[in-house]
Amino acid sequence: MQVTVSSGNNIYGTLVLPIFEGTDTIGATNEGIPNSLNAQINRVLSEGDFKGKANSTMTLLGTDGGKAMLVGLGKEADATVHTYRDAGASAVAARKKVHGSEFTVNFSTKDTAAIAAFAEGMMLRDYDYDEYKSKDDDDDADLSTRINCNESDVETLGAAVERAAAIAGGVHLSRDLGNCPPNDMYPMAFAEKAEAWAKQYSNVTVEVIEYEAAKRLGMGGLVAVGMGSARKPCMVIFTLNGDQSGPHPVLVGKGITFDTGGISIKPSPSMDEMKYDMGGSATVFGTMEALAAIGYDKKVVGITCMAENMPSSNAQRPGDVITTLSGKTIEVLNTDAEGRLVLSDGLWKAGTDFDAEYIVDFATLTGACVVALGHEATGLWSNDDDFRTRIHDAGNDVVELAWPMPLLPAFEKEMTDSKIADTRNLGAGRWGGANTAAAFLKQFVPEKGEGDDAKQVTWAHMDIAGTYWGAKTNKTVGHGATGVHVRTMVRLITGE
Ligand code: BES
Ligand code: ZN
Ligand code: ZN
Repeated sequence: MQVTVSSGNNIYGTLVLPIFEGTDTIGATNEGIPNSLNAQINRVLSEGDFKGKANSTMTLLGTDGGKAMLVGLGKEADATVHTYRDAGASAVAARKKVHGSEFTVNFSTKDTAAIAAFAEGMMLRDYDYDEYKSKDDDDDADLSTRINCNESDVETLGAAVERAAAIAGGVHLSRDLGNCPPNDMYPMAFAEKAEAWAKQYSNVTVEVIEYEAAKRLGMGGLVAVGMGSARKPCMVIFTLNGDQSGPHPVLVGKGITFDTGGISIKPSPSMDEMKYDMGGSATVFGTMEALAAIGYDKKVVGITCMAENMPSSNAQRPGDVITTLSGKTIEVLNTDAEGRLVLSDGLWKAGTDFDAEYIVDFATLTGACVVALGHEATGLWSNDDDFRTRIHDAGNDVVELAWPMPLLPAFEKEMTDSKIADTRNLGAGRWGGANTAAAFLKQFVPEKGEGDDAKQVTWAHMDIAGTYWGAKTNKTVGHGATGVHVRTMVRLITGE
């Protein structure tokens, strides 16, 4: 969606009016509205037909021309930027053929943060995954939106809208990757998309470690998970501003392009949803795009661990013991706990090959996390309480909730008491399954420094099994992949 910011009252296409509860007239701020439409709007407001309840919408067609969509903001006293973001998203969600392909939004507020948030909500929600629809749907004609504001606010708002559009582009890229069907989204297809993407930015590089190289380098976790598929695994490394020196964030993503469970095969119902099992890698890719598009000028590295988890005669077996990049061994007790295997190599690489200020991994890691938090919040673990709080706060700032979860020594003990290997990929029982998975990952976060000074690299794990897809209460998403945490990461990394 194209959003332009202009001063004045010109109305193109459908007029969108955000309205607080209790508003009984739109007053004098809406000069350009055709008379009959203006009268109709005032009538539905004064007669209470449109109450302004948050995210409600009503469409009116003027008898002498003009169309309007009223969008509720709820009670004025409760309104925050989040109210405006949701209302913007609700306006786009309510768009029908009758509204045409142009919106003009007139605000009663002059608060630029609120107006920018409304535009952001519109852009985030303006997404459909229709790559595989052969029929062009008129309702989907590209929307362009004009935001009317004061002359003095045009520059500030224009810059805010441009930044929000760049970040929304990263969110939409993540959704595109997540929604792509698994016959077309396989490890090397993801890698090729990354390589093609990198060509548009001079300050970005993408390196692909292919299957043979991964074997040679000792990436035993990635290789074990991916070897059972005809479509072999790979690791993709994204670097933004690689010429900068000094500590920088490293993001790591689980990229299982399809998770059948492997030999420990999953039941058939809903197995199709396991195409989203590369959501972590999509979060990393989308974040790199958002950062590049806003012109972020410091170094950031992203590592995605791509594999397809299939049962076959080449597949790993329950009972296998594998040696990971770290040199640590894992007893594979269940091939469906594969995310942690590929991440063991990604985390180790992140902490050893780079000057990581911190590592954050994203993974649709456990069904147990969905049991704990539903589709409402990501599980968040960290070896540093302050860092965990920073991520939690960044998530709250953009309404992508990440809920603090415990990294308890007892869970680490449970995951390291294999009789024959350094670690085991399955807990002793099913209880606390999201926590045991996090405790397992911690074993593969390297330490930095010598002797008594040795300290594990600052690391956080985000289990997005519930939040990467299936979100029903998120106004900015229609259906399918959510693209969650691209915005959290931009907030964390840039501080804005
Ligand atoms: N990809 C799944 C986790 C998942 C489940 C993501 C539901 C999204 C929705 C993961 O690889 C998996 O299968 N985990 C197992 C782990 C178990 C075998 C220890 C699980 O959660 O059941
Ligand atoms: Zn699995
Ligand atoms: Zn999985």
